[in-house]
Amino acid sequence: MKGLKSIFVCEKCEYKTPKWMGKCPQCGAWNSFHEDVIDTAPTTAPTATKRISMIPSGDSRAVEFGQLEIPSYMRQNTGLHELDRVLGGGLVHGSVVLLSGEPGIGKSTLLMQICDALGETRRVLYISGEESGGQLKLRAKRLGTVGKNLFILTETNIEQIIAEADRVKPDVMIVDSIQTVYSSNVNSPPGSVTQVKETALTFINKAKGEGSSVIMVGHVNKEGSIAGPKVLEHMVDAVLYFEGERQQSYRIIRAIKNRYGSTNEIGVFEMSDRGLIEVANPSEMLLAGRPKNISGNCAVCTLEGTRPLIAEIQALVTQTAFPAPRRTTNGIDYNRMCLIIAVLEKRLGLKFYQNDVYLNVIGGLHLDEPASDVSVALALISSVTDRVVPDDLIAIGELGLAGECRAVSNLEQRVKEAARLGFTKAIVPYRNLEKRKLEIEGIKLLPIRGIYETLNLLKEQE
Ligand code: TYD
Ligand code: MG
Repeated sequence: MKGLKSIFVCEKCEYKTPKWMGKCPQCGAWNSFHEDVIDTAPTTAPTATKRISMIPSGDSRAVEFGQLEIPSYMRQNTGLHELDRVLGGGLVHGSVVLLSGEPGIGKSTLLMQICDALGETRRVLYISGEESGGQLKLRAKRLGTVGKNLFILTETNIEQIIAEADRVKPDVMIVDSIQTVYSSNVNSPPGSVTQVKETALTFINKAKGEGSSVIMVGHVNKEGSIAGPKVLEHMVDAVLYFEGERQQSYRIIRAIKNRYGSTNEIGVFEMSDRGLIEVANPSEMLLAGRPKNISGNCAVCTLEGTRPLIAEIQALVTQTAFPAPRRTTNGIDYNRMCLIIAVLEKRLGLKFYQNDVYLNVIGGLHLDEPASDVSVALALISSVTDRVVPDDLIAIGELGLAGECRAVSNLEQRVKEAARLGFTKAIVPYRNLEKRKLEIEGIKLLPIRGIYETLNLLKEQE
């Protein structure tokens, strides 16, 4: 077509170039260029003039700080307590939420499940660009969704969607997914940077103008980040990420950004044949089927927001057949593992350089808290010395390069959770107990100053 030109746009910073590039010269991102088609003919298209506005336009005069009032956010329960927790206590009226995750993880299932609770008091419009009405109804039947106050629209053209929304007047719009929606004012294909930005902006402006809420599904790209412009994340009020191993049934939802709550909280679900079931006690699920009396295993307590989670670390140290020994991790940072191995070699004289090391956190959990260091070290010590860590022992503590055990945050909460789950002994940092004595019923605390003390402790336990 006349006036149309192909350009390449960086997903991260929107740098434009006429030729594809491997690395963005502006923001340095790799593989971030996507082809877009633009209209070079002079135009008065709305894209050119539309401004990004996250708040309804009002008075443009500055207000004295003391005169401002704190808004009270009206929230609505989604019917799923775990999701409410991540949202900061429910869906805020007039907020825009981006829900992203890999295909097949359960985004559409989750959204269909909350429709009934939302529909109790509000009108919900579910816009689906991926599935037909029949398919949605089939899923709803399986999930037991009744569909009161629920309207389904299988349309991908934004102008038609907005016209229909003006008719239905929903309080909540669910867009599944933003990458399938397109505007006929933009000449790029659906899912391209320009389209996603334009259509998302239309939804946001509508929501902010009318006080309705929008939940948008956003696909992730190969690298695992949200496909489409990075600016999408800045435009919305909350970004939720739904993750989990597809082979395993449990799913974790976490907030990457939340203007109305903390980003530390996680929600845990299990995928069943009747949809997502909330898991109120994730530690019990993570510890189920734990092998007993095997060397290389150690329990770990990590804090996710305000919630302690207990999982298990497994280490396998075997003689290597390679010139350079292998180091493989799953659920723990590779460099952190190398650091802990180096500390054990230097401070305890253990030999790893002729051994392959495999480290795995059960349940696909990711431990990025240093408080799990001592557990990782114990699992490694246990495997290399073939000494079993007792099943009822848990270890909590951060390791320094000198092999010292450093204090951790929220020790009491972690130990309480361990005691609740039947652990009777806990290795804890001595530093934590220096200033404040801690006694928790049913669990004996074994304070350590450094990792060298764990060798004796393990011997005593036998
Ligand atoms: P879906 O919500 O379609 O994923 P997404 O929208 O993130 O792409 O869920 C897809 C998977 O969930 C699919 O592989 C089947 C499974 N599933 C169940 O196990 N039980 C159920 O009740 C439902 C509805 C789906
Ligand atoms: Mg889907």
